[in-house]
Amino acid sequence: MSFWQQFKRFSALSIVVGFAVVSFGSLPAHAQAKPDTSKMPWMNKALSPDERADLVVHEMTLDEKIQMVHGTGWGVLRPPDPVPAKSNFAAGYMEGIERLGIPGIDLADSAVGARMAAYQSRYATLLPSTLGAASSWDPDSAFLYGSVIGRELRAWGTNMSIGGGVNITREPRNGRNFEYAGEDPILAGTLTGNLEKGVFSQHVMSDIKHYALNDQETGRTVVNALLDKKALRESDMLAFEVSIAIAEPSAVMCSYNLYEGDHACENDYLLNEVLKKDFKFKGWVVSDWGATHSTVKSALNGLDQEMPGDENYFNAPLKKAVEGGQVPTARLDDMVHRILRSMFAAGVVDDPPVRTVVDPFRGRDNAQHIAEESIVLLKNSDHILPLKASASNSIAIIGSHADVGVLSGGGSAQVDAPGGNAADPKAGGSGWTEHIYFPSSPLKNFQAHSPHASVRYANGADVAAAAQLAKSSAVAIVFVNQPMQEGMDAVTLSLPDNQDALVEAVSKANPNTIVVIENGGPVSMPWIQQVKGVVEMWYPGIGGAQALANILFGDVNPSGKLPVTFAKDESQLPHPVVPGLEGVPPGPNQEHKVAPFDVNYNSEGARVGYKWFESTNKQPLFPFGFGLSYTTYVYSGLTVDDAKRTVHFTVRNTGKQEGTEIAQVYVALPAAAKENYKRLAAWQRVKLAPGESKEVTLPLHPLSLTVFNTDQNGWQLLSGEYNVTAGPSSSDTPLKATLHVQ
Ligand code: GLC
Repeated sequence: MSFWQQFKRFSALSIVVGFAVVSFGSLPAHAQAKPDTSKMPWMNKALSPDERADLVVHEMTLDEKIQMVHGTGWGVLRPPDPVPAKSNFAAGYMEGIERLGIPGIDLADSAVGARMAAYQSRYATLLPSTLGAASSWDPDSAFLYGSVIGRELRAWGTNMSIGGGVNITREPRNGRNFEYAGEDPILAGTLTGNLEKGVFSQHVMSDIKHYALNDQETGRTVVNALLDKKALRESDMLAFEVSIAIAEPSAVMCSYNLYEGDHACENDYLLNEVLKKDFKFKGWVVSDWGATHSTVKSALNGLDQEMPGDENYFNAPLKKAVEGGQVPTARLDDMVHRILRSMFAAGVVDDPPVRTVVDPFRGRDNAQHIAEESIVLLKNSDHILPLKASASNSIAIIGSHADVGVLSGGGSAQVDAPGGNAADPKAGGSGWTEHIYFPSSPLKNFQAHSPHASVRYANGADVAAAAQLAKSSAVAIVFVNQPMQEGMDAVTLSLPDNQDALVEAVSKANPNTIVVIENGGPVSMPWIQQVKGVVEMWYPGIGGAQALANILFGDVNPSGKLPVTFAKDESQLPHPVVPGLEGVPPGPNQEHKVAPFDVNYNSEGARVGYKWFESTNKQPLFPFGFGLSYTTYVYSGLTVDDAKRTVHFTVRNTGKQEGTEIAQVYVALPAAAKENYKRLAAWQRVKLAPGESKEVTLPLHPLSLTVFNTDQNGWQLLSGEYNVTAGPSSSDTPLKATLHVQ
């Protein structure tokens, strides 16, 4: 080729590159010019994701492989850190390999909705907290939940969601319980697995986190969790096993804490033995942000990608370790293969997201639907609910900014509110410790429901004024809140900011008092005898106030049931004081305030939540699986099919209003299991018209019937008699039968 030919070619190329950088530089890599795939056999969709990944790895240079196994740094999370031109402003970014047609990956926080909308003036739907959504016990709702997240991230042009928190509620004061799905591993795993399937259905890569035993925020980067392997597999790890089997997620995020002396992100047992071997996980292990602590040990023990990437373990040091033979090339190839195969499997190479506009109306409707299935009616004395015309001609609305909005959870799950914090509007995104309210106003929605009624608000700061308003109203509705966030735990189960006193004052002024709770996890209720109604609304999402109004006024019959046990007080818990908090002043970012310490979960072992209460014969304030309805149900005729391991029973609606009952089935294992508690084995939402009966046949979840045998390193079904019970909650199982296993 002559000089001129070369020059023309070079200049043409530089014009194209220049144009690409100038014009498309701000677009995410995967939205830029399409590479010539005719020379890329891995673009053949007839091949499997693994075959395609192998073909790409074969073409890659060492530097390209290293580029894929770490992120580009804290970027938008830590201004003024540099933000890669091709990133789409998510929590993390991995540069793509343009010459091979492999796009970059934008790892976007999206536990309860896409995070950091404000950064680019985008919109994101705030869904109910995942703990709230778990109160629906509805896998279909969970799938919808994930679909909203995936749909909106795609509209942003983002190709990965890093939500999917499934840490069980071992610690009811854990600041991140609102991002998870409760205390039972089968329920939490089933719902979270379906949620992540929903994300994946939108051709957005999915994630399950925080693997594993990241069950408290206090000291989360230094706490060493101790738990024997049998109990581990039958509790925390079971939630991961169930959710990963259902979702087949693109990635699993390893957590900050240690387990039995090794950090989770360099823990051979957790990552190689259990996740990759026992669970047969094909995706990649991504570190939590800053949770990587070594190069060779992490790589050999199962970590596949360092995020956000400027801790410098998996860039130059890893290249040196591969060149020096401390990390075999085959291991590096496996790391890259796992990422690539997940990209092909999710469709982000063949069908990269193209920016559109988020549909906020569809998102709000979806959020409201999930909230209506998730709100739990905990107390309804004198049938004070649903509000009757008489009672609703003068309603006092008190506390928790209920005039303007509903509370959301903080930390990396924080969604930015449209128009800013409804309780304190100001420009920009949400601060890490702010309590952000979303513009779904209970006051406005109640007024809309009762246009002829006097619906008045008092903010509750002045307790006497609130009591006075209550006294002059037919019914008083007190909104109480428990702000929760990543990085810190609640010190106690008590409501903060003296709200118990507010409830007591209002209920003294007016016995027709209803309490609505906006909380991140279980709370104590010293006033429970003084009020007539208690409604668990959780963080209800952008459609929360509409959902609440529909329930309180009877348009929707509440069906939610608790996915966590509510203790009366801390003395009932396995750890009355949050481990590591002894002597530490409460406040944000407790994670950094404590020296390394062990937390010995062997004290309760696999007896998490209701299993603890049952095995220690304690009566909680409200039991796991509890929730009231405006109608009543009767259960009858439980039978068990030993061969199929299914149960069959009938539920009848004996009231005058249509409703949906979450029927639950529990199993107590044979004596040889040495368990003095039962396990949730099946459940079903049963919709019933007044007077209607339905027969229900359910399979008993196989992993609810088995014990983990550490000698065989596998699940074992014991022979003997299994006591099967069924009913409306873990503490109310009127139907009894026996499963016989030979
Ligand atoms: C955080 C969280 C994790 C989040 C990540 C990125 O510290 O533990 O859930 O996805 O960092 O923000």
